[in-house]
Amino acid sequence: MDTTTNPTQAKRDIPINLFRPQAPLAMTLVSTKRLTPEDHPSDVRHLVLEYTEGAFRYLEGQSIGVIPPGTSEAGKPHQLRLYSVASKRAGDDGQGHSVSFCVKRVRYTDPESGEERLGITTNYLCDLEPGAEIATTGPVGRTFLLPEDPTIPLVMIATGTGVAPFRAFWEQLAATPSQAPRDVWLFFGVPTSAEILYHDEIRHLVDSGALKLSLAISREQQTADGKRVYVQHRLAEHADAIWPLVAERQAIVYLCGIKGMEKGVEEAFADMAHRHGADWEAMLPALKKAHRWHAETY
Ligand code: FAD
Ligand code: A2P
Repeated sequence: MDTTTNPTQAKRDIPINLFRPQAPLAMTLVSTKRLTPEDHPSDVRHLVLEYTEGAFRYLEGQSIGVIPPGTSEAGKPHQLRLYSVASKRAGDDGQGHSVSFCVKRVRYTDPESGEERLGITTNYLCDLEPGAEIATTGPVGRTFLLPEDPTIPLVMIATGTGVAPFRAFWEQLAATPSQAPRDVWLFFGVPTSAEILYHDEIRHLVDSGALKLSLAISREQQTADGKRVYVQHRLAEHADAIWPLVAERQAIVYLCGIKGMEKGVEEAFADMAHRHGADWEAMLPALKKAHRWHAETY
């Protein structure tokens, strides 16, 4: 395996930390759209933020910091939270002065008091009206990027809002069409079918042949032994198609979403390797070193 070149970084000018928390960039919210049905308990939104042309730039796969207003209980300014960019570098409208995110409103039970709590930044962002100003930082992320070679297969594995960087990827791929045939797979895990974010866009890409899709709808589908279906189960089902992409065709594997998925996805690949007589213990570090395995989980 070639471990010397980095397919996602080759001689590229990657913008990093153009803005930091001490002097953030004020972006303006231009639109907010619910991606889950209004009456669904899961509230996920697509937000479009605008900046003055030339004031900022980013690449698909990077993340941007948001600093919620106000202070913590200890009186300190809130820390920034990271959000994966969900738009191509020119923005959803292609005009070069906006960036989009996909934000899930967090509600959780405080483990100590048992009280219902609201996530600070997600509730701030989900409740904003267009015209509001948002303090942003970044961008960050040097490696979870599209390769420059248009023939390299992409294996994208997402759960929930982890689909955001892949939405940026497919938007950029559509904006820069290539004649080269390419395998682009999306393995996407969500709790219910109402939570398949960007479902219309995904359907359109699948219908046009630009994307292969495998959904794992955990609360509606079951494995043969009666368990919730996760992305790793779908990977195992498609092992015959996925393994040659990784073992022979230099595919890049990207994971984004829930932290817990990493272990399951690695096990699915270990199983494929085992059945093909490959040494996964040696292969995974080599893939990482070659920048062909990227995990961004949270
Ligand atoms: P906080 O006020 O910080 O509260 C967090 C608390 O809520 C934690 O103590 C935890 O117990 C609980 N909590 C948080 N998330 C969950 C959860 N999913 N389930 C149960 N309990 C939870 N988030 C997105 O919505 N979209 C993105 O595209 C996105 N991209 C990210 C990219 C990176 C690289 C990283 C590191 C994180 C990303 N996140 C994304 C997560 C984001 O940064 C915040 O952590 C998240 O939105 C919660 O922020 P908050 O201020 O609302 O919650
Ligand atoms: P579930 O919560 O039904 O067990 P969201 O971010 O919208 O909550 O979606 C996360 C998705 O990832 C859900 O379908 C969730 O399933 C699934 N999931 C939870 N744990 C894992 C895991 N260890 N590996 C893969 N997927 C997981």
